[in-house]
Order: sequence, then C-alpha cells, then structure tokens
Amino acid sequence: MRNIIVTGGCGFIGSNFVRYWLDRHASHVTVLDKLTYAGRRENLHDLWGDPRLSLVEGDIGDQALVRRVCRERNVDLIVNFAAETHVDQSILGPLVFTDTNVRGTHVLLEVARELGIRLHHVSTDEVYGHIPDGHQSVETDPLAARSPYAASKAAADQLVQAYYITYGLPVTITRGANNVGPYQYPEKAVPLFSTNAILGEPLPVYGDGRQMRDYAHVHDHCTGIEAVLLRGEIGQVYNVGTGREMTNLEMVDIVLDTLGGDRGLVRHVTDRPGHDRRYSMNVDKVRALGWEPRYDPREAVAEAARWYAGNRWWWEPIRSGAFREYYERQYVRRLASAPTGQPS
Ligand code: NAD
Ligand code: DAU
Repeated sequence: MRNIIVTGGCGFIGSNFVRYWLDRHASHVTVLDKLTYAGRRENLHDLWGDPRLSLVEGDIGDQALVRRVCRERNVDLIVNFAAETHVDQSILGPLVFTDTNVRGTHVLLEVARELGIRLHHVSTDEVYGHIPDGHQSVETDPLAARSPYAASKAAADQLVQAYYITYGLPVTITRGANNVGPYQYPEKAVPLFSTNAILGEPLPVYGDGRQMRDYAHVHDHCTGIEAVLLRGEIGQVYNVGTGREMTNLEMVDIVLDTLGGDRGLVRHVTDRPGHDRRYSMNVDKVRALGWEPRYDPREAVAEAARWYAGNRWWWEPIRSGAFREYYERQYVRRLASAPTGQPS
C-alpha cells in the first residue's frame, strides 16, 4: 500500500480518510476526483502542500485516464469513495447515479483487473433496503435497495463481488452506516439541520421523523476501512457502523441541545418518496478484526453539530452559492405547506 489512489478524496468521507491515512501510513496518495458540487479542494486545505498527496481532477468513468494514472504512479491499491451520494438528488435526477456509481466503479474494476491492482470499494447499508424491527443486517443478507442511489450502490457492490468470483481480483468491500462529522456537504440531514439551527432557519423533518438511522462518526468509518485494508480477508464484505440506532427526531434533539437551538424551528414536511424506515447493521465481523468504534452515535451527532458551529468559514460560502437553488427546489414548497410550531 505504497501508492494509493483515493477516488472521491475531496468529498466528505474521502477527505477524512486521506487525512487519517496520511497521518499513520507511509504512502503516497493520489486523489482522483471529478470535483462535483460535493467535491471540494478546501476539504483537504491543510494538506495540499504535503509532497505525499496529489490531486488528479477527473472522472472515474474515464478509463484511459484511470489506466494512465495507475500506470504512471505504480498504484497498488484503489480505495473507491467516488460516488453521487445523496438520496434526494437521486430522486430528482437519477441517471448520473448510474453513470458514476455503476459504470464508474466498473471502469475501476476493469483497470484494476488489467493491471493487477487491489480495489477496496466503499458501499453502504442502504443496499440492504428497509430493515424490519428485530433484525440487523449481516453481510450475507440479500441486497434489496429501494432508491435510485441505493440501487446504483447495490449494482456496484455486486459488480465488485463478481470480479472477485469470476476473475479472482483482490477486492474488499465495506458497507458503511450514516456517517456524520467534519466536511459533510450540507444537503445531508445532520449538517443541514446544524447549519439551519445556527442560522435560525426551519429544520425540515421528513414525515413523522421516526425513521431509524445509525449515525456513526466518520472517524470510525475511516478506522473500519483501515482495519479491513490491513487485516480483512480478500473477497469479503464488512459492515461498518456502531450497531446502534436512533430516530431522526432524537438526532434533531441532540443537534438543537448542542447548539442551543429553538425547538420551534422543527417542521414536519412531506416525506421523501420511498423513504427507508430503518437501517441497522450487525458489525460483529469487522469487530472480529480488532476494530471498535470510538464514538457513540449521540456523541457523534453532537460533535458534528459543534464542528459546524466552529467552522462557518467552510459552509457559509457553500450555502450562499449553487446549493441555494437545490434548497429552494427541495424545500421551499415543502416548508410553505408545513404547519409551524409542531411539537417534536
Ligand atoms: P460526497 O458526496 O461527500 O463525496 C463524493 C466525492 O466523489 C466528491 O468528492 C465528488 O466530487 C466525487 N465524485 C463524484 N462523481 C465522481 C466521478 N464520476 N469521478 C470522480 N469523482 C467523483 O460523498 P461521501 O458522503 O463522502 O461518500 C463517499 C462514499 O461513501 C460514497 O461511495 C458513498 O456511497 C459511501 N457512503 C457514504 C455514507 C455517508 O453517510 N455519507 C455512508 C456509507 C457509505
Ligand atoms: O446510510 C448510509 C447513507 O447515509 C449513505 O449511503 C448516503 O450516501 C448518505 O447520504 C446517507 O443517506 P440518508 O438518506 O440516510 O441520509 P440523509 O442525511 O439524507 O438523511 C438522514 C435521515 O434524515 C433520513 O431518514 C432522511 C432524513 N432527512 C433528511 C434530510 C436531508 C430529513 O428528515 N430531512 C431532510 O431534509
């Protein structure tokens, strides 16, 4: 693992992973990133002078580019974070999700096969679909994705497994729970609610807000991926989360308590179509590699909220730019028809 490509390394989890990895390992990291709205150079602002890090701006679906970068840099590992990642965006415009998440991952697999490179793929708990009460997903459960985003991630996940089975390509997969922490684009619930609370704007909770999520700190996702890279078995899939869930309303309470926000800001708005009610994963398999999460989900959400309070320099320019257009499309009508002052 001397020469690594981290695809999507300018995004939320990718940038946290690059920082974590360079702090602990003697590798050269090439970030391959298309720099979509979610990919931001400033997510690695503290590291650009480091000679062990470089950026190639480009698309994982560009096979010639991926091949050239892998050859020129003698790459021995690809860690694939690059993706379109927001469920609501996948409902508004799904095709790009297939382009990047399915075809892009497929291109990486083809180049990895041609050049004999290990590939680690970052998948998600959403591939299991809605999980009924009383069950926790294990890695052998069938995939049952329900949104265009989740379906594209499930297709990629299965392609990665197919390349192991068919070609013996050295691959590993992690399926992560909902991550929270620094540098998460404010379209996602925890940064959206945190920044809205700081600005005194309404918090648009979809439906009754009783959906269950495992809000895991991004640090623990990075250490989980590291454990799989160093000690995981080739060809295997590992769930990475805390194994504990809370409702979205509980998450909102933590955000408001942490930031001293007013509960009158909470609005129950029209639900997300096909909204998965519950995700929940069993994480015994990654624990067996000697990995443990450092953060409880409650601490993870509180710490994330504090980060947004302390880092307005990062999110204020985002929220005043192109994000505004998306926000209006996604929320203005929903909020206008939501009664105010509902108790949460
Ligand atoms: P993000 O949206 O913050 O970042 C995605 C990154 O990928 C951005 O830097 C973007 O520019 C880049 N990218 C997009 N299309 C690209 C392309 N065609 N070529 C190259 N780069 C491209 O996403 P995130 O939340 O950091 O998620 C990273 C990965 O982790 C994704 O694969 C996602 O499915 C997975 N995941 C996310 C979570 C979560 O809670 N955020 C949980 C589990 C798994
Ligand atoms: O579970 C892993 C997944 O977590 C990742 O694969 C995805 O990339 C990531 O976006 C995330 O998906 P979710 O859809 O669960 O996350 P999001 O932050 O969009 O929403 C979290 C919960 O909050 C979900 O139940 C929907 C709800 N929500 C979200 C938004 C944006 C609201 O109630 N209101 C909102 O405005």
